Amino acid sequence: MSEITPEAVSTATEAALAVVAAAATVSDLKVARAEHTGEQSPLAQFNAAIKGLPNDQKAAAGKLVGEARGRVTAAVAEREAELAVAEEQQRLASEAVDVTAVPLRWRQGSRHPLSLLMERMGDIFVAMGWEVAEGPELENEWFNFDAMNFDEDHPARAMQDTFFVDPVDSHLLLRTHTSPVQMRSLLSRELPVYVVAPGKVYRTDELDATHTPVFHQIEGLAIDKGLTMAHLRGTLEHLATAMFGEGAQIRLRPNYFPFTEPSAEMDVWQPNAKGGARWVEWGGCGMVNRNVLRAAGVDPDVYQGFAFGMGIERTLQFRNDMNDMRDMVEGDIRFSQQFGVSV
Ligand code: PHE
Repeated sequence: MSEITPEAVSTATEAALAVVAAAATVSDLKVARAEHTGEQSPLAQFNAAIKGLPNDQKAAAGKLVGEARGRVTAAVAEREAELAVAEEQQRLASEAVDVTAVPLRWRQGSRHPLSLLMERMGDIFVAMGWEVAEGPELENEWFNFDAMNFDEDHPARAMQDTFFVDPVDSHLLLRTHTSPVQMRSLLSRELPVYVVAPGKVYRTDELDATHTPVFHQIEGLAIDKGLTMAHLRGTLEHLATAMFGEGAQIRLRPNYFPFTEPSAEMDVWQPNAKGGARWVEWGGCGMVNRNVLRAAGVDPDVYQGFAFGMGIERTLQFRNDMNDMRDMVEGDIRFSQQFGVSV
């Protein structure tokens, strides 16, 4: 150990004060205190060495070392108080509560516009005395295709359009349209039959702005004595007006469906469309094919009728001028809420 000189004491003191001043946290300071005021610290050792000095030097050395130790102890206490205040302030800041902040509230749920629209379309028919019918989404190939008069090798059966269910010889698939509900209704109800069947259908399309692999249709079927295409047209006009307002018209263009003959593609004229009045393709329709009636055990010479099917997504798009199909499937509550409780 070096001699107790004013320089040596001063060097030890300055070193101690520097370390204390540099302590950035209460725990840094604990370390500094142990090193510079503890028994092994240079100043404590100077202090211990005093008793070995000649008597005439003890007083001066005692004063020198005592003062130095006093300065260091005081610096530690001061720094400790500063750090305690700083740490307290930090803790308070981190626990601060902004009493003016807008509270988190549970968002109220909202029914999906497609569900609302399907119900509203169903209601239009219920008001005319029709019934709402249902069928399974996991359907037998027979109901989806065979009973609807599709040939064995009709392209719509192909794997690239239809989700078949493994194993393929189970003859189960995800229905590609709501038309199988026509046959289910004919087999389970007394004639005459007036039903609509809204629901989900599936096709192997990629999701993009205009396609989704799951979408919705509403099917209509009326079988009675003496029904003609005029009844079909009148029914569709009524629906078009209810959906798109006064002035809505429909237009039928010849088309082919295996389950109707004659068949038509139907367009609807929307005078009030947001982008301006226009024709838009809305769905398919026709007089129920005699083969379908026969498959259901109905005598086509006595009963006739019509059927139609249109997309609910398309209807929603036209009514509300929506451009992107993805908005309808993403399930963002803000999309649903735009429509409130009615579409
Ligand atoms: N099922 C047909 C489709 O999905 C639409 C349709 C229904 C056509 C009823 C005629 C009669 O495209």
